[in-house]
Amino acid sequence: MTTEKDRVLIFDTTLRDGEQSPGATMSHSEKLEIAEMLDDMGVDIIEAGFPIASEGDFEAVSDIAKLAKNAVICGLARANFKDIDRCWDAVRHAKRPRIHTFIGTSPQHRMIPNLTMDEMAERIHETVTHARNLCDNVQWSPMDATRTEWDYLARVVEIAIKAGATTINIPDTVGYTAPVESADLIRRLITEVPGAEDVIFATHCHNDLGMATANSLAAVAGGARQIECTINGLGERAGNTALEEVVMAMKVRGDILPYRTEIDTTKIMAISRRVSTVSGFVVQPNKAIVGKNAFAHESGIHQDGMLKSADTFEIMRPEDVGLKETAIVMGKHSGRAALRSKLKDLGYELADNQLNDVFIRFKALADRKKEVFEDDLLALMRDQASGEHHDRIQVKFLRVICGTEAPQSADLILEIDGKDHRTTAQGDGPVDATFNAVKTLFPHRAHLQLYQVHAVTEGTDAQATVSVRMEEEGRIATGQSADTDTVVASAKAYVNALNRLLVRREKSDPDADVKTVSYKDSA
Ligand code: KIV
Ligand code: ZN
Repeated sequence: MTTEKDRVLIFDTTLRDGEQSPGATMSHSEKLEIAEMLDDMGVDIIEAGFPIASEGDFEAVSDIAKLAKNAVICGLARANFKDIDRCWDAVRHAKRPRIHTFIGTSPQHRMIPNLTMDEMAERIHETVTHARNLCDNVQWSPMDATRTEWDYLARVVEIAIKAGATTINIPDTVGYTAPVESADLIRRLITEVPGAEDVIFATHCHNDLGMATANSLAAVAGGARQIECTINGLGERAGNTALEEVVMAMKVRGDILPYRTEIDTTKIMAISRRVSTVSGFVVQPNKAIVGKNAFAHESGIHQDGMLKSADTFEIMRPEDVGLKETAIVMGKHSGRAALRSKLKDLGYELADNQLNDVFIRFKALADRKKEVFEDDLLALMRDQASGEHHDRIQVKFLRVICGTEAPQSADLILEIDGKDHRTTAQGDGPVDATFNAVKTLFPHRAHLQLYQVHAVTEGTDAQATVSVRMEEEGRIATGQSADTDTVVASAKAYVNALNRLLVRREKSDPDADVKTVSYKDSA
């Protein structure tokens, strides 16, 4: 794709490896929106999904392929013809399509398909050749490459290159490698494997030991020219390499990391917030680059230093990542234009009808709360996004009786598939009573794994953000909601998680899990 020596391609897999994270399910429209933002910010390759996994994944990849303006659109496929054909059918609509096919090559992963090393080598040859006959941009990955024996890894990489792969990705699937090793492995592959000079090497790191960013940058120093990453480091277990971290590291430390990306870093905060909202994964406050405290200086010494000169404690400017000055924002007298402009600063560009909806909610909030802060607006936007209009279940009315005298009870109306249903239920406290009422109106076997309440800002009139995680037969979904009334936020978060679980139910096909490497549809 590029011959410039210092240019590093950014391959974003938020919509594939990120979405695979338990509970991070995104709806079709959310995926399209994130893909558009990735394309806009200059991501080179978007891995849009795993087309064979479900009808929903297929549709998402093919719709993203149709809408992408600049980015290469990539789909994932296991090492069999059926996966690869399905993947091609989804990505072929893109201006620049790519097929990404993989197989687990380490001793631990070779056991699963029950192939000998020679049989696996043959399988790689056949499947990469097949993919290349369909598409001239083919990426191949030896899954768990960092735990694969060197001789075998070098052998299969050579086979994939000869079969026509244009990018060779070296995944650290279980986050096992360390920076020195990561650089050495890529360097050695580039020097010793015949044909290596004709392909781009990519690095794909997981963060199990907290070294994903360091390992990715080390791989680049070793000669890799594509980093695979996700927004906010979203991904299974401890997640993937965070896009914002590698990109900002290369930007800020160009002196020792002399590489270049095409990412517009001022779009980082907006997409980080959006991914956090739609995935339901809250960004930890002290997360590098995008955490709430990443640019906050609270200690007296730091504040004093900052007032004298920002570079005393700041190695990058908040504006570089799209953070604007924060202050008290608005109140009940603020108008539509002010709201639109503030939301634009926060990364939300709304059409008139969307603005109208948000404005009504903003006014309702401003009536209850004297001052509306940026964080309140962000919570409002998260709430707006999570309670999508097409959700099957919606909270219409809630009144609870609580206090020192038991029993506490909840009177609840849910709209389910367009019809209102009402019940009263009791429980051990108002939240328990409310959840019991939801279960009465919409019986389900999912159980609550996590219930968390955070105050969005300070003060007794602050909004509460409630996060809920639910599990049903191995499927996990998270829900979030914010309200000045904690019980209302709880009811909405619970219903939000339930709606997401229903989407997960529809799309789940256990046979199509990336980690369930099935070879029955053989090449
Ligand atoms: O972590 C991994 O090995 C993967 C592959 C499918 C590339 O995500
Ligand atoms: Zn991965």
